[in-house]
Amino acid sequence: AIKTDFNGKKVMITMGPTQEALDPVRYISNHSSGKMGLALANTFLSRGAEVFVFSGPISLRVNKNSFHWQDVKSAKEMYMASSEIHDQMDICVFAAAVADYAPAEIYPEKIKKSDSTLSIDLVKNVDIAAKLGAKKKHNQVHIGFALETENEAENARRKLTKKNFDMIVLNSMKESGAGFQLDTNKVHIFHASGLTVESDIAPKNQIASLIVDQIKNIPVWI
Ligand code: PMT
Repeated sequence: AIKTDFNGKKVMITMGPTQEALDPVRYISNHSSGKMGLALANTFLSRGAEVFVFSGPISLRVNKNSFHWQDVKSAKEMYMASSEIHDQMDICVFAAAVADYAPAEIYPEKIKKSDSTLSIDLVKNVDIAAKLGAKKKHNQVHIGFALETENEAENARRKLTKKNFDMIVLNSMKESGAGFQLDTNKVHIFHASGLTVESDIAPKNQIASLIVDQIKNIPVWI
């Protein structure tokens, strides 16, 4: 049977990397492919939700017409676009790998090669999840992700609190078959309520189903 348990729900998903321009031809970014975010978008769609996607630059094949889809590049752009619709959302999923810093200035021309070293000043980007988390209403659900290389659980729990998430999904980076770019993932889910859930290594669409199922355990949902 087709599950339509998210019928009538509005879901926002940030996904993919952000690109922070340095000059007209260069940028700072990361390895996010958008696969995890897209798997979540498809899962919510198939379960009846209306899905609003803000995606950094990705090269996946997507039927954008199935969604309210907006392509963005920088963290600033992702923030401006998502904050505009945030208060109408029932569920927000922050799956994007947002660059924490951006070049302090965008050079108008291609930076020329001259000295043997080159320094670039970076400034902190807006934290989209934290900003929107600060104005989360009692009936909204926020789900975050965490990508850590050390003290994984501790850092994930700290982000859960700091960004006011109801649930955070920690990618097990130490696990082969988990994290960036791959078609599979292995995650640890930490609820704000204290409940924790661990997955096996599985295709990202199965991980997405598990994450979506876990929303049922969030108190505001019951
Ligand atoms: O795209 P794939 O190749 O499939 O890989 C998926 C993924 C590993 C990128 C994804 O599952 C994931 O973990 N995304 C978040 C990675 C990350 O940037 O984590 P973080 O620990 O830096 O950020 C914590 C949370 O705050 C995340 O929900 C992030 O979206 C959010 N954040 C972070 C910084 C910022 N400036 N704004 C944010 O909203």
